[in-house]
Amino acid sequence: MMDWTDRHCRYFHRLLSREALLYTEMVTAPALVRGGAVHLLEHDPAEHPVALQLGGSDPAELAEAARLGAAAGYDEINLNCGCPSDRVQSGTFGAVLMNAPERVAECCAAMIGAQPREVTVKCRIGVDEQVPEEVLPRFLEAVAAAGVRRVAIHARKAWLQGLSPKENRDVPPLDYDLVVAMKAAFPGLHISINGGIATLDAARALLARGLDGAMVGRAAYHEPAAILLPADAAIFGRASEMTAEDAALAMLPYIERHLAGEGGRLIQVTRHMLGLFAGRPGARAWRRHLSENGTRPGAGPEVVEAALALVRQAGSQAA
Ligand SMILES: Cc1cc2nc3c(=O)[nH]c(=O)nc-3n(C[C@H](O)[C@H](O)[C@H](O)COP(=O)(O)O)c2cc1C
Repeated sequence: MMDWTDRHCRYFHRLLSREALLYTEMVTAPALVRGGAVHLLEHDPAEHPVALQLGGSDPAELAEAARLGAAAGYDEINLNCGCPSDRVQSGTFGAVLMNAPERVAECCAAMIGAQPREVTVKCRIGVDEQVPEEVLPRFLEAVAAAGVRRVAIHARKAWLQGLSPKENRDVPPLDYDLVVAMKAAFPGLHISINGGIATLDAARALLARGLDGAMVGRAAYHEPAAILLPADAAIFGRASEMTAEDAALAMLPYIERHLAGEGGRLIQVTRHMLGLFAGRPGARAWRRHLSENGTRPGAGPEVVEAALALVRQAGSQAA
């Protein structure tokens, strides 16, 4: 998610779940290939498994971007066919590609041929006046024929005119049934469903309908301890001893490195940690302390330690 799942966020999320597949923000192929912005590929080895999401619509450029991504160590290269923002449309990529399945197939084939990592697609069920029941199977058929084996489907349309990107994540109605039907129609395709999944129970209910994966965006970001922390046990059957407090403490050495080694600022890391104690006593104090103190010049790990002390204090008062 743009501006959200940067490398600091992913490092933090990986502490909470060993198993969940993490995705980068969308990185555009032109920025990488024409702009030489290879710093956008920087990530920590601890983030794996992590997928690089690319935006673009030029097969040769995407092939080169995918090659750069694979060389940088990403486990998967994902093509964005779901983002509706104006900026993205003007570059002819993102959701507007739902109108051009043959072009998407060409892009995927070029990306697959250029490097060894798996190429996946994230798409919508359609855009604008398209009839999802007609276009989605055609779209999936085209990408599957190009060699794609895994897709994530945001189960709502995008309206390319008239709705803001934010509205396009909430206003068009969700159609989970159609995505479930696609799994039945394409049993060989690994299909993850996305959109509006707010709890792990909701994710499990969708998996029980035959889907292969559940992709959680906003809820995982805002309430990481409710989604990511229990995911290893609840979804992947792997016990985890990690707690929210452990994760906060485990971020301290990372923060030290970011501040001292990279000359970074505390807030760049802690802004992704604000929801860690959501729903628990002390959640507001944690959030407020980090927000108010994280931007101070010279702010360091002691701010996180002090915020954690407030959470512990609130916890013992509530007990
Ligand atoms: C701030 C923000 C940025 C996003 N950026 C991307 C992106 O770069 N690529 C992408 O495929 N989807 C992006 N999305 C959409 C999400 O991946 C997801 O499809 C959407 O939010 C619906 O899922 P959710 O209800 O679980 O959040 C973004 C969403 C948000 C809130």
